[in-house]
Amino acid sequence: MNRVYNFAAGPSTMPQEALEIAAREMLDFHGSGMSVMEMSHRSKLYQEIFDDTEAVLRGLMHIPDRYAVLFLQGGATGQFAAIPMNLMNGSGAADYVDSGNFAHGALVEAKKYGDARAVASSREADYAGIPALDPAAFNPDADYFYICANNTIYGTRYAAFPETGKVPLVADMSSNILSEVVDVNRFGVIYAGAQKNVGPAGLTIVIVRRDLLGHARPTTPKIFDWSIQAEKGSMLNTPPTYAIYMAGLCMKWLKAQGGVEGIERVNIEKANLLYDILDDSAFYRPRAEKASRSRMNVTFTTPSPELDAAFVKEAEAQGMVSLKGHRITGGIRASIYNAMPVEGVRKLAAFMKQFEVDHRAGV
Ligand SMILES: Cc1ncc(COP(=O)(O)O)c(C=O)c1O
Repeated sequence: MNRVYNFAAGPSTMPQEALEIAAREMLDFHGSGMSVMEMSHRSKLYQEIFDDTEAVLRGLMHIPDRYAVLFLQGGATGQFAAIPMNLMNGSGAADYVDSGNFAHGALVEAKKYGDARAVASSREADYAGIPALDPAAFNPDADYFYICANNTIYGTRYAAFPETGKVPLVADMSSNILSEVVDVNRFGVIYAGAQKNVGPAGLTIVIVRRDLLGHARPTTPKIFDWSIQAEKGSMLNTPPTYAIYMAGLCMKWLKAQGGVEGIERVNIEKANLLYDILDDSAFYRPRAEKASRSRMNVTFTTPSPELDAAFVKEAEAQGMVSLKGHRITGGIRASIYNAMPVEGVRKLAAFMKQFEVDHRAGV
């Protein structure tokens, strides 16, 4: 077997131990004589897998009982619409921080439902950082305040979350959930597509404060109505059964690494390995502003697009794949989620140094 170091932004690398357990359990899960994929979602055995997965997530993030945890489908993009449908029910207004392409997409979607506006934006600065926030500009009557906690394409992250008072803070954590300790109590809603830092694609996690339930717009499709989904235990219809099971295996692996507290230290170490090289080099240029640097997606360029392409190609030949930057930004992006081992990042760091030595003379 020849596994590569996979730096893809999502779907992305998963813990090998979790994949091995899944492989062992593929044909006969715990003596049931069937795969988890073949199980009725209404069966007792599957309900145990589901409940166990929720319990592990609650433990890892210290999610209090006053929050519902939903396992849904439709991706983070589905939630771009579900958020206004469930929450734009008072003043009909919402504040958005336009910090990247996905935040912008969420804002555009919310405008269909009400008075969503950008309270700050770094769009004109090519989303190189999280924009400065002026609390005096926040709408105190907004139904919610929306942020994207980690901007996957640009490699930026909030170093501190905004204080929004009684206005519920809603955060897209698709690319940083479970990577760092967050105080769930500070948020009205946290949501994430699972395919970056939790497990496989197909599962969308929504963590919502229960007092925000029960106010969806009447036209909300029931599949997107968080209250109905909470009432039905996320089983209004067939949930993404196998993705939930796999996410459970990945989260148990995370628990064994010391949980979110433990992995956060490793994630800082991994990110520093790469940022130190970028900072010491006149060859590479980091893309994100220093104060906004992501620990999950490290974005940079070499002196030319041709060298960027050569970097990606040579790295791939050495077993480090999917380092090409997003099509919007170009350049290089190393996504180093929880499941990327330190050794993978060390190998990339060594490659970066050698690539610079080999190509510096030509520029
Ligand atoms: C921060 C962020 N939000 C939203 C999305 C969209 O996610 P999905 O493909 O699950 O709709 C992505 C996916 O790449 C993302 O990185």
